[in-house]
Amino acid sequence: EAERQALFARLKRLLKEKDAVLVAHYYTDDDLQQLADETGGCVSDSLEMARFGHDHPAGTIVVAGVRFMGETAKILNPEKRVLMPTLQAECSLDLSCPADRFSAFCDQYPDRTVVVYANTSAEVKARADWVVTSSIATKVVQHLHEKGEKIIWAPDRYLGDYVQKVTGADMVLWQGACIVHDEFKAAELRKLHEKHPGAAVLVHPESPADVIEQADVVGSTTQLINAVHNLPNETFIVATDRGIFYKMHEAAPDKKLIEAPTGGIGASCGSCAHCPWMAMNGLQNLADSLEQGTNEIHVDPEIGRQARVSVQRMIDFAA
Ligand code: 13P
Ligand code: SF4
Repeated sequence: EAERQALFARLKRLLKEKDAVLVAHYYTDDDLQQLADETGGCVSDSLEMARFGHDHPAGTIVVAGVRFMGETAKILNPEKRVLMPTLQAECSLDLSCPADRFSAFCDQYPDRTVVVYANTSAEVKARADWVVTSSIATKVVQHLHEKGEKIIWAPDRYLGDYVQKVTGADMVLWQGACIVHDEFKAAELRKLHEKHPGAAVLVHPESPADVIEQADVVGSTTQLINAVHNLPNETFIVATDRGIFYKMHEAAPDKKLIEAPTGGIGASCGSCAHCPWMAMNGLQNLADSLEQGTNEIHVDPEIGRQARVSVQRMIDFAA
């Protein structure tokens, strides 16, 4: 604990010295979320992470999360320095959708509007007309559908399928999945819900369709946290990465939160829902990166310029 306090103090000093602000995702360690809160940074979903860095005056944005989050910050802020605690933090959705294969896929459907999830590389964003996050995916696709546009959606097939069902839009889907959310099991969830009939079920839309079907609320990480605060239920079953419990407890300290089952009910963290790449971020590698200026995110300027158009479209739409 003394060591942790010392590291906290050192990080607070470093953030000031380096004119840096910490932007962390809800799936990162509690320590990182706490540090971001205590230093005027931000802890949020991927849409808010993108916005926050852009609006903040600091010259360096440190992104605790996965690589696409750092890249999005760089795309929106090419003049700022963007650092990450590690450059090894990938995302299975991003990995499932290599730019060359995706571009060839798009070429097969030249009359379709290309909508990609934020969980993609800068190159894939550069090929897209729109970037969306889970918090506004349905609204953007609804808007395009009303204008009569047909859509290519990538890479998350579950989110794509959910958005398609809600909007009725004509969509062709890339077949990617998140390895964390793909593990939630519908039959076990049903049994768990029977044991807690008063519980509300909260589901991130990267989960399989038969899990989403059981949800009282489907939404982005921020939307799920808000639901814990706003709904009258005393108990919640939560189908998303367990990192989110830090903020859920903070939002509603008296409520009971239960992890949705991933295969075996009652499993300890051997099979819990926790993104292995988010888990690579910690106080120590954050301090190293700030101190030495390592793990800087670079995006090819031309790719970044193209990607900015589709990312900015999302930000303007969300405003
Ligand atoms: P959110 O935009 O809902 O935070 O989702 C990001 C993500 O990677 C979820 O797995
Ligand atoms: Fe990607 Fe899934 Fe990890 Fe989110 S939880 S960063 S979608 S692998």
